[in-house]
Amino acid sequence: MMDYTVHPRRTHSLLIIAVFLLFNLCYHAAYFSHHGNPKAVRVPLHASEILSRCRALNLLPGPPSDFYDRDVSDRFVRGTRPVLIRNATVWTGRVQGLELIHGDVLLAGGIIAQVGHISNDVLSAYNDLVTVDAHGAWVTPGIIDVHSHLGDEPSPALSGAYDGNSLHGPVLPWLRSLDALNTHDDGYASSISGGLTTALILPGSANAIGGQAFVIKLRPTAERSPSSMLLEPPFTLNGSHVANGGLPRWRHMKHACGENPSSVYAGTRMDTFWAFRSAYNTARGIKDAQDAYCEKALIGDWASVDGQSFPEDLQWESLVQTHCYEAVDLDAFVRLSNEFQFPVAAFHHAHEAWLVPDVLKHAYGEHPPAIAMFAAFSRQALFCSLYKREAWRHSEFAPRVLADNDIDVVMKSDHPAIVSRYLIHEAAQAHHYGLEETIALASVTTTSAKVLGLDHRIGYIKPGYDAVHPLALGATPKQVFIDGIAQLETPHNVEKPASAQRAPKTPDYDKEAADAVKYEGLPPLAPLKSKAGTVVFTNVSSVWLRAPDSAVYNAFETHAIPGAGVVVVQNGRIVCQGQGSQCASVMDADAETVDLNAGSLQPGLVTVGSSLGLQEIAMESSTVDGPAYNLLAGDPPAIAGGAGYVPRAADGLIYGTRDALLAYRGGVTVGITAPQHATFSSGLSAAFSLGAAHALEQGALVSDVVALHVSIAHGDVPSVSTEIAAIRHVLLHPPHGEGGKWYAKVAQGEIPLVVETNSADIIATLILLKREIEEETGHRMKLTILGGAEAHLLASDLAAADVGVVLSPPRPLSYTWDYRRVNPSLPVVNQSAIAQLVEAGVTVGIGPQGTSAESTMSTWAVRNLRFDAGWALLDSPQALTKSSAFAIASSNVEKLLGLDLDPYDGDLVATTGGDLLSFEGKVVAIISPRRGKVDFFA
Ligand SMILES: *[C@@H]1O[C@H](CO)[C@@H](O)[C@H](O)[C@H]1NC(C)=O
Ligand SMILES: *[C@@H]1O[C@H](CO)[C@@H](O)[C@H](O)[C@H]1NC(C)=O
Ligand SMILES: *[C@@H]1O[C@H](CO)[C@@H](O)[C@H](O)[C@H]1NC(C)=O
Ligand SMILES: *[C@@H]1O[C@H](CO)[C@@H](O)[C@H](O)[C@H]1NC(C)=O
Repeated sequence: MMDYTVHPRRTHSLLIIAVFLLFNLCYHAAYFSHHGNPKAVRVPLHASEILSRCRALNLLPGPPSDFYDRDVSDRFVRGTRPVLIRNATVWTGRVQGLELIHGDVLLAGGIIAQVGHISNDVLSAYNDLVTVDAHGAWVTPGIIDVHSHLGDEPSPALSGAYDGNSLHGPVLPWLRSLDALNTHDDGYASSISGGLTTALILPGSANAIGGQAFVIKLRPTAERSPSSMLLEPPFTLNGSHVANGGLPRWRHMKHACGENPSSVYAGTRMDTFWAFRSAYNTARGIKDAQDAYCEKALIGDWASVDGQSFPEDLQWESLVQTHCYEAVDLDAFVRLSNEFQFPVAAFHHAHEAWLVPDVLKHAYGEHPPAIAMFAAFSRQALFCSLYKREAWRHSEFAPRVLADNDIDVVMKSDHPAIVSRYLIHEAAQAHHYGLEETIALASVTTTSAKVLGLDHRIGYIKPGYDAVHPLALGATPKQVFIDGIAQLETPHNVEKPASAQRAPKTPDYDKEAADAVKYEGLPPLAPLKSKAGTVVFTNVSSVWLRAPDSAVYNAFETHAIPGAGVVVVQNGRIVCQGQGSQCASVMDADAETVDLNAGSLQPGLVTVGSSLGLQEIAMESSTVDGPAYNLLAGDPPAIAGGAGYVPRAADGLIYGTRDALLAYRGGVTVGITAPQHATFSSGLSAAFSLGAAHALEQGALVSDVVALHVSIAHGDVPSVSTEIAAIRHVLLHPPHGEGGKWYAKVAQGEIPLVVETNSADIIATLILLKREIEEETGHRMKLTILGGAEAHLLASDLAAADVGVVLSPPRPLSYTWDYRRVNPSLPVVNQSAIAQLVEAGVTVGIGPQGTSAESTMSTWAVRNLRFDAGWALLDSPQALTKSSAFAIASSNVEKLLGLDLDPYDGDLVATTGGDLLSFEGKVVAIISPRRGKVDFFA
């Protein structure tokens, strides 16, 4: 045990605050009022205030000099009892993130009082100490999100509470995100339950300069006000000034480049950059006037400025946080920073920054901007629910490539784009793809604090208390402390396996990362080769296979004789599995051998719930299949079938999209996709192979018609009741034509009706409708709920009605009103939604953990299905086994969609180093009986 004490003052002295995120053009708020006789020069009434403002113009922001002597936080809540966390594994964030202390943490006065071995003498000074035994669990600084819209885009989304963007012009530096901060956002509690303690709240990106951002702490306050959530707000906030001898505070200005502002203002990148230059030119004029004024005032030459007030303009106080994607934008912004001489703290999103590290190093200032980004949510970035081209070249390897180039990396959520509760999962994914452990941890704690200019008080060992190693899959806090106050009233936790107590041993992706750079973000993703003949897998530690009853079972495990497992495959089918030489008789001379390094063979995963295979870049209409007609908006043209129109996704499939290939490389082998649609009527889904290059390849189309899909949500026009009426009508009175034929099959239970919906009320209505139609027709109908955010409220009714649920996304936020009763899962409640449904006897599948409520857009997230299934298993160990965790992402999805395939035809995925459900396994081959071959990725 190390003996160690941390005082915030020492923490600070180790750091160089080198990231200047703000451009302090001027600090001012009130006009100097001029009195007296204009002829006689007099020292102005407020001369000392003016002089202090003039001096402050040249001061860098920072904490006051006595800050490090504090023993009580300015955010301390009177009555908060001191807390001693005993026996913790403390990742302090210090010493380049290498310091690990096994010991205790004392929280008092809203700050960390001591870390390490704390003597009884110290402890005896506190008579009301609360002691928590961590039993060796990890304690890390609270997670910090440098890019969030919490409060300004609150959940559940209601149009009257949406304050993300002003559309009143491209340049609006005078707007402040604080002025719209809603204190009732469900997102605060959700994010805290994931360990998030602090966030920078930014205006949206519809404007070139969108306004000022503010740092908040997420906990509820006694005042219940937005102001009371602020962390070190700038003095300009209330028109006060830097005290004489004090220092200003950092401020944050949101800038956006590229398609977002261009699309809103029907301009081009050229217009956006002129908007910047013209704004900065105005600001420079004011700055020059202030400098000229202050030059005189500071030497007491009041005569020269007689009759003039301190030059200022409330609208043009500016500083910099930026939001640029492509190299062209980054390069232009770097030029701008040099022309107007302001340092840039961070480029957010910056999906191409990793390709141009040298451009970043040319930015004005001593320290290149940090890059704040997502792990995998990249291929498409979110804006107005659309996904765009400029994120096309992002890579899962970007964080490590930037770190290799000495650029600071910060992971951010853009909440609600990525639910910020899972920000640590972004860092964990970056780690899986090669970002070093300490840099990955820092990317949501210490580096974020530096970028915010707040590393004198947050980002090092501070609130936040993780149950497992924070980079382990599904790491969930046991308790979260903000300002020394425990945030989870009764935290619920499950025992995690011992292996989760260290950072996962991640695969070697060196070649993939180098290729990503070489191919400018678009490396070839298709399998490197395929083989129809004999392939031998050696050192196989476990084999999981599909069983005829749509289950998955453990066929093979070699705990006893590690490394001895052998599986032989011919023409994409297993012909022998055994130990040692048991399979010698089926080997042939030109067999290809693959060493799995104690890896596994397991079922290929099956995805449903996104538009995978119908779009490449969602926001570019020339790359998507496009929306189907909504039958409730009027009959489609007669030539398309009129009232009997029903589109088939199979006819619009685009094979080999990048998201499909990335998912394939993540072990997802079959996609089920329904036609894209705005509301209500979709059409017939298709099942296809993610590894196929086009529709004519053997085994490319797995099934041309799978199920009939509709979606129902409150807010749809026409109403929910009209949508239910339409389903009742077409099922009981099928119209003529193609559509009628399929509606009749649904009514007779030959194919399922898949309803994409989330509200428990709508689900209940559907259960009643199913009963009604069955009574009328005398047939059992198949009904499946896709989405199902509130399905857990009806778990036993769903089981009784034999209605299954594909939870998509599996861990939703209360995005809209229909989601408002989501199960918040652990650590907030004792059981996840999956566990509740499974224990009630409902067949459960999972879809992608995508973006907002627009799950069909979440094609980028399909690649993470393996982690989502692994996460479900870790969260619900009483309800799931490893077999059923595989099943919820494969055979259960097929069953719920009515895809009736021979289980012996199911694909298998070979992983090295570990299995598909962990951060350790890497997919190296896919074995496909249907396609008669093995695809190799290594
Ligand atoms: C800390 O917790 C671990 C895990 O429960 C335990 O093995 C160890 O003995 C504890 N150490 C101390 C000093 O209490
Ligand atoms: C203005 O804000 C500063 C800094 O937060 C604070 O110290 C001061 O009391 C505030 N003044 C008023 C009048 O609210
Ligand atoms: C199997 O792989 C594991 C993990 O790499 C290794 O420790 C073991 O020695 C290997 N066994 C054989 C027989 O190659
Ligand atoms: C969760 O809590 C509910 C209600 O308190 C209880 O009925 C149930 O048994 C608990 N489940 C688990 C897995 O602890």
